[in-house]
Amino acid sequence: MLDLEDFNRQLQERQDYIEANLPRFMPSPHDYPPVLHEAMHYAVFNGGKRLRPLLVLEGARLVGGELEPALPFACAMEMIHSYSLVHDDLPAMDDDDYRRGQPTCHKVFGEANAILAGDALLTRAFEVMASADSTAGLEARWVVQAIREVAMAAGNQGMIGGQVLDLEAEGKELDLEQLKAVHSRKTGALFRASLRSGALIYGVQDERLQALTDYAEGFGLGFQITDDILDVEGDERALGKPIGSDARNEKMTYPQLIGIEGARRMAHTCLQEAIDSLEIFGVEAEFLRSLAFHMLERKS
Ligand code: IPE
Ligand code: IPE
Ligand code: MG
Ligand code: MG
Ligand code: MG
Repeated sequence: MLDLEDFNRQLQERQDYIEANLPRFMPSPHDYPPVLHEAMHYAVFNGGKRLRPLLVLEGARLVGGELEPALPFACAMEMIHSYSLVHDDLPAMDDDDYRRGQPTCHKVFGEANAILAGDALLTRAFEVMASADSTAGLEARWVVQAIREVAMAAGNQGMIGGQVLDLEAEGKELDLEQLKAVHSRKTGALFRASLRSGALIYGVQDERLQALTDYAEGFGLGFQITDDILDVEGDERALGKPIGSDARNEKMTYPQLIGIEGARRMAHTCLQEAIDSLEIFGVEAEFLRSLAFHMLERKS
């Protein structure tokens, strides 16, 4: 495990690399029509942790691939994630006013423009991924396979399916298995596709892909459980989004179902399982192990 200082430095390096490259794959904020492009820009360039793109790049690196060719997928995952947040915050869904430390997209640009900016980010992501083979020298068949993976993770059986189940469960009781299924879809699916697409674009389908998938399962669930915990006892300023949103919406969450301490223990177990699944990569996976390890204490 990396010590905290090393981990933070490596995390910052990776976030800086993504931050520097995201604008290459986004439309200019000055494109026509202005309100759409400003809203798309607003939704993406606002201090997200960039975990999903980081995981794409880590997946690529761990199978021996270069980072640059993986950038279209990395940036596309952040566009899809950012769109999911814009829609998640809408009045028809979680109805939240703050995201990443600033007023939510619909508060600034209006609901219709926020919906459309989300739609455009999702669509742009696929445009960017589909351009990856020509710009990055990857094999087209593997790029297609990775795009399919991302599409399935973002769609009806993945994130969108999970969001529907999350909304359906408002005011209701789920059991642990059902709640796990919701979290695995609404949050786990994009993490899984991030790690897997980074390896798939290099044609890797062996036990390394399985190890990355196992890591993603534990990481995704552990991550969403800590998100649920932070919604109860986080610091709004550090978090950049309101706390108490889940309670207000009568969401089914881990703290709600098994208490804060139970949720903490469960997150710990999931993140430990994630760490244990990386053995095949040896010391090369120290960063991913540390990322899972430090997720429990995250403040944002
Ligand atoms: C928030 O994700 C939404 C969830 C799936 C819990 P992040 O915590 O990764 O959000 P950003 O991208 O850093 O804002
Ligand atoms: C959102 O889960 C998952 C998404 C697919 C966006 P939450 O609704 O808990 O995310 P936050 O807490 O608003 O970031
Ligand atoms: Mg939600
Ligand atoms: Mg929400
Ligand atoms: Mg939440």
